[in-house]
Parts: sequence; structure tokens; C-alpha cells
Amino acid sequence: MFNLFKSTVDLTHGYLKTVVKPGGAAVDATVGNGNDTLFLAGLVGVHGRVYGFDIQPEAIRRTTEAVVENGYSDIVKLFEQGHESMGIFVTEPVDAVVFNLGYLPGGDHNIVTGPETTLRAVTDGLNLLKPGGVMCIVMYTGHSGGPEEQEQLESYLRQLDKNSYYVCKIDFLNRNKAPFLLVVEKACEVSPGGLV
Ligand SMILES: C[S@@+](CC[C@H](N)C(=O)[O-])C[C@H]1O[C@@H](n2cnc3c(N)ncnc32)[C@H](O)[C@@H]1O
Repeated sequence: MFNLFKSTVDLTHGYLKTVVKPGGAAVDATVGNGNDTLFLAGLVGVHGRVYGFDIQPEAIRRTTEAVVENGYSDIVKLFEQGHESMGIFVTEPVDAVVFNLGYLPGGDHNIVTGPETTLRAVTDGLNLLKPGGVMCIVMYTGHSGGPEEQEQLESYLRQLDKNSYYVCKIDFLNRNKAPFLLVVEKACEVSPGGLV
């Protein structure tokens, strides 16, 4: 039993909690079974907004059911669309964007997030973040294509302007292929060099 590191998802939720407040807005870029969507909806409350994206009808169906059951229908907008189009569908600045990459647990393991679309979505997501906003990316590398996705994403995040973004990786050194967490915080003030 551990108190600090129950799971990578718990760690992620800890970061999201610090920035997403009642009345805020957030994006769940990989809805899946809807756990992050529901968590975000609970944080933004009745006056907030959560946008969710997934390419699998099954994920959108399951999450729609959960959203209705939890009374979040007026808060959550779900899109059966790739997150690479979030720049089209989300037109307001958001406090947080969360990604949980890889495949849908209990679903088709061949349907996975991919390097190009993930990179597009991360770039758009960073642009959508309000100053002081946070992006959390839970990353898995155990499946085919996972290491390539990691490499592309980390190369991109590594070169972000350090005055505009804080980029942090939380990895678990004694756990083989455990998911790890990338956290990106956007500066509260725009640096003279601008963002992205
Ligand atoms: C690890 S699961 C997400 C788990 C989810 N956060 C939860 O709480 O259950 C990854 C999801 O990403 C979805 N996905 C794959 N490619 C995508 C894309 N281009 N845009 C949006 N979602 C995508 C998959 O369909 C899958 O449901």
C-alpha cells in the first residue's frame, strides 16, 4: 500500500485538481471509459464545461451513459472525433487538457493513439490552455507504436520555450513498462518571446 503513488491516474487527478475550479473548462482528449471526463465534470461543476474526444463509438456510448447517470449532461460535450481536431471544436480557452494514450481497456487493443495525431492534438491543446493551465499526458509504451509515440512527443516537449512552459516527466524506475506521466504547465504570464 502506498499513499503518494496510488496510480498514475491518481497523480494526474491531483494535478488537475489544483488548476480546474468550479466554472472552469477542460478537455479530455481520450475519453475511453470516461473516468477522466467524469472527474473533470465534477471539478468544473454546473457552470463549467468539459469537452471529450474519442474515435471509438463504443467509448462515446459508454461515456455518454455515465455522463447522463451522473447528471453531467449539461456540462459535458462529447465528440466522436479524433483529438487532432480539438482546435476546431473547442473555441474557448481551457484550464486543463488530459490525455491517456494507448488503447481502450476492455476494447480493441489494435485501436491506439498514434504519434502524428497525438502531436497535432498536444500542439493544439497547448494553444488552448489558459495562462497557468496544465496538460497531463499519461503515456504507455508497452504496445506496438508506443515507443515511437513517446519519442515524438518527448522530442517536441523538450524543445518548448522554458519561459513559457514547465515540462515535467514522472517515471517509475523500478516498474517495468508502467505508464508514466508528462505534465506541462503554461506560464501565468506570456514571456517576451511569446508562446509555442
Ligand atoms: C487509454 S484509453 C483512454 C482511457 C480513458 N481516459 C478512461 O478514463 O477510460 C485511450 C483512448 O484513446 C482513444 N483514441 C485513439 N486515437 C484517438 C484519437 N486520434 N483521438 C481521440 N481518441 C483517440 C481510443 O479509442 C481509446 O479509447
